Amino acid sequence: MLSYQHSYHAGGPADVHKHLVLAELLALLTKKSRGISYLETHAGRGLYDLSSDDSLKTGEAAEGINAITLPDCPLVKTLRNIQQKYGPDAYPGSPMIARELLRDQDRLHLMELHPVEYRNLRQNLMGEGVSLHRRDGYEGVFAITPPKPRKGLVLIDPSYEIKTEYAEVAEFSHRLMDKWPEATIMIWYPLLEADRHLELVQGLKLPFLKHEVGFDLKDGKGMTGSGLILINAPYRSDEILQQVEGQTSGLLQPLG
Ligand SMILES: C[S@@+](CC[C@H](N)C(=O)[O-])C[C@H]1O[C@@H](n2cnc3c(N)ncnc32)[C@H](O)[C@@H]1O
Repeated sequence: MLSYQHSYHAGGPADVHKHLVLAELLALLTKKSRGISYLETHAGRGLYDLSSDDSLKTGEAAEGINAITLPDCPLVKTLRNIQQKYGPDAYPGSPMIARELLRDQDRLHLMELHPVEYRNLRQNLMGEGVSLHRRDGYEGVFAITPPKPRKGLVLIDPSYEIKTEYAEVAEFSHRLMDKWPEATIMIWYPLLEADRHLELVQGLKLPFLKHEVGFDLKDGKGMTGSGLILINAPYRSDEILQQVEGQTSGLLQPLG
């Protein structure tokens, strides 16, 4: 099923949560000169227009990135660069954030299955050091793992259109860690009234860091917040999560 379109949700509170943490993690992982690999199972198109009909229809960006003033940080630096290149309503997806923050010695591998999203991703991200794949994200990332450089980060950010996807993400994370034990995995999941994320969180039988925030969307369609899991979290990741809480107070409510 491929009916989900991220253009309706770009720049919303869940993106702010996910993208702030992602940008900080990438900044941390690139402090040493050795190259890293960045992989995504579900890349999306990489670049969004917050003045598009899709974006204005949900108004999520107005309740997210446009409702908050963030201090100088890796995401804000990226946002400024992207707005300079593409205009004031441009908003970067996770692949674009990664490309902005990564260096010549780093490699990106991005999976996207939707034909139109994939075409847009190619237009937005094609370039040196970036491999683009139109294939199932779980199958594709598993097939090229472990990559070179061997140190790296995998973002798993599905649309959870199918209820079984929560359990699938847990199962996939175990298989991936068995094949590539050095990987850091970052998983995003929605908090829904139905609490479906518990299947993912409780299905993970390995150590992880978890960060959940709540928010109140006018038309959240049952989404009450956003969750992140970090497996093999780099040293000082807990400081990043605390810092993000401080930067977003008023927009994202930390949940115990
Ligand atoms: C939540 S969006 C990704 C957003 C992106 N990570 C970001 O933060 O900018 C999920 C994407 O996964 C794609 N998708 C759905 N099923 C997929 C699959 N099995 N493999 C790869 N991509 C898939 C959808 O077309 C959609 O573009």
